[in-house]
Amino acid sequence: MLIRITLAVDDRDLRRRLGSVLARPDILVQTPRVRKGLWPRILKDPCDVLLVGESMLPEPLRAGMEQLLLHPDTPASVVLAESADPVTHARFLADGCDAVLFAGLAEDHVRGVIEAMLEKRQRKSQKLFFATRPLAEPRLSDFVSESPGMARFLNLVPRVVQSDTALLIEGETGVGKERLACAIHTEGRRATGRFVALNCGALPEHLLESELFGHVRGAFTGATAARRGWFEIAHRGTLFLDEVGEIPIHLQVKLLRVLQEQEIQPIGSEKSFGVDVRVIAASNRELQTEVEARRFRRDLYHRLSVVTVTVPPLRERPEDIPVLVERQIAYLAHQVSRHVTGIAPGAMRAMCRYPWPGNVRELNNVIERAILLCDDTEITLSHLPESIADLASGPPGHPVAAPDEAEPPEAPVTSPASGPAGRLALPEVWLTKSLQEVRKSYLADLERQYIEGLLAATRGRIGEAARRAGLQERSLYEKMKQFGLRKEDYRQPSGATG
Ligand SMILES: Nc1ncnc2c1ncn2[C@@H]1O[C@H](COP(=O)(O)OP(=O)(O)OP(=O)(O)O)[C@@H](O)[C@H]1O
Ligand SMILES: [Mg+2]
Repeated sequence: MLIRITLAVDDRDLRRRLGSVLARPDILVQTPRVRKGLWPRILKDPCDVLLVGESMLPEPLRAGMEQLLLHPDTPASVVLAESADPVTHARFLADGCDAVLFAGLAEDHVRGVIEAMLEKRQRKSQKLFFATRPLAEPRLSDFVSESPGMARFLNLVPRVVQSDTALLIEGETGVGKERLACAIHTEGRRATGRFVALNCGALPEHLLESELFGHVRGAFTGATAARRGWFEIAHRGTLFLDEVGEIPIHLQVKLLRVLQEQEIQPIGSEKSFGVDVRVIAASNRELQTEVEARRFRRDLYHRLSVVTVTVPPLRERPEDIPVLVERQIAYLAHQVSRHVTGIAPGAMRAMCRYPWPGNVRELNNVIERAILLCDDTEITLSHLPESIADLASGPPGHPVAAPDEAEPPEAPVTSPASGPAGRLALPEVWLTKSLQEVRKSYLADLERQYIEGLLAATRGRIGEAARRAGLQERSLYEKMKQFGLRKEDYRQPSGATG
């Protein structure tokens, strides 16, 4: 992240001297010149270190320093005192300032103190950053695979890890584009910087611009405080632009300029400053097609796609399903403290035959649900959603072939279809579960089937589907994402679900 230093000093000579001490590529110096209203202004702007001249301190000082604790970044405060009197210095410290320096000190001393302060601050933020990172960070080894489609992909990836080349990751929803971007960051030389992921499709246009580049106070109605953009926060790290195809055209122009010049200009600011950010973009639509349709600028496309990797969907690499299933069982069983250690052959066969429209995300969700339903050590067909379990003994010639085709099917799961007299024919396994578990799994299945049917009936028209379901479009999208469903798969009259 760039370090923002606020230099509130009215002595021009001192300001010039400090300016030269602070001239570093990872420091952004902001110099408010006003004296009246200075403190409220400092309290609103992003700032890591505050260097403040004695004449600019608030009255009473203690109250002002307490207000500083409410600042979102709580900057380190250094007072530049006009005298070398130790009693005055002690008073500043007692009122809450972090350090006091006699402004008349030789430049080298001032430089030494400021550098030590910055170092300490950086270490503290690094420590915090590492402490809040997830325990199981994505690694490139998560993507190990035997399938030919993945072999092409895996061949390319290690070559881009140590470089700063712009990278475009394409692939269907849930294949692991963000996970891959994060793994590349974690294993590359930018690992000590931040990995910042921004979904460009989830924000309205005006917000997206401010999220990317930041804004100054008063830049637009409602901008009551300045804000750092993600480019600034990702300085020396990686910025992952998810659904990059959703960026509106006018912002594409601005993004291209930033990528070319490695400089950003927050909204409303007259000044721009340098940032060192590796950009990894992702799209679950083919960006090239968007370029042909003139929805995406060709020049930006070329800039982002210096290297393009495509993560193949799971249905094109069924060989990878067993290893993903086993790893996920091991990982999740540990996470939720269950003693599930494996999966029955029939259940694995069904998993391998299923086409996984929601890819690894859907697979992980299915395993999580199965682990929660499983009271034993092994996941069986009864723990899988029906749409998958039915495939264990399903018709031959299903799009995905299971590895152990010859094995006999496991005990069939009765479908909860209507029995005689319109009553549900209960699957026996339900009677071994709690009502809450049965209800949860049945409703999830029902919901998925309903949404699949609805999308097929409306040929993927979200507005119409949401209206029929009585849902907001956004909620429908969320449910589709949960079940790994995509409207594109229902656009054909056949209503293929992929
Ligand atoms: N190889 C893998 N091993 C384990 N989990 C994985 C793997 N790939 C993806 N996942 C998990 O699957 C889920 C979806 O992955 P991710 O968010 O990276 O997909 P995506 O391609 O970015 O999807 P979308 O296009 O919908 O944003 C995440 O929870 C991720 O941790
Ligand atoms: Mg994603």
